[in-house]
Amino acid sequence: VEQTYIMIKPDGVQRGLVGEIISKFERKGFKLTGLKLFQCPKELAEEHYKDLQSKPFFPKLIDYITSGPVVCMGWEGVGVVASARKLIGATNPLNAEPGTIRGDLAVQTGRNVVHGSDSPDNGKHEIALWFKEDELCAWAAVQEPWLME
Ligand code: GTP
Ligand code: MG
Repeated sequence: VEQTYIMIKPDGVQRGLVGEIISKFERKGFKLTGLKLFQCPKELAEEHYKDLQSKPFFPKLIDYITSGPVVCMGWEGVGVVASARKLIGATNPLNAEPGTIRGDLAVQTGRNVVHGSDSPDNGKHEIALWFKEDELCAWAAVQEPWLME
């Protein structure tokens, strides 16, 4: 089944948005496979965002992501990668639709509250990057027959 790595960034934690953000994914019908509060070391932030290392904002991005604890999550479900990105909304919160996390809760790209993997391959890769194997749970959710025919 498809998996995605979702992370509540330090601004989301500091602003007390953790419960509200987790609820969006939970209520949609996706299954939580991993969850932790974590102070990200600089090296991991640089590895996670290595595709952006040539961008002028890269040093600011690393400072932002390491500026306080983040909430790391693995979520699983049919179509979860693209669906989670729809729930999150556009990178620039001013372009994000109302009803999305960034559309409702943020105003600036540099403080956009949440991360979501951009492909199923990156979902797997990022979950393996941010979690140890024994921090992840495979479990059967009782609601499954009520979500999928
Ligand atoms: P993520 O889910 O966090 O990966 O966001 P995204 O996929 O919508 O955007 P992208 O991967 O292109 O950029 C990763 C992150 O870098 C963004 O979410 C922002 O936090 C940050 N970022 C991207 N562009 C800018 C920018 O122009 N300025 C600043 N300050 N930050 C940026
Ligand atoms: Mg991205």
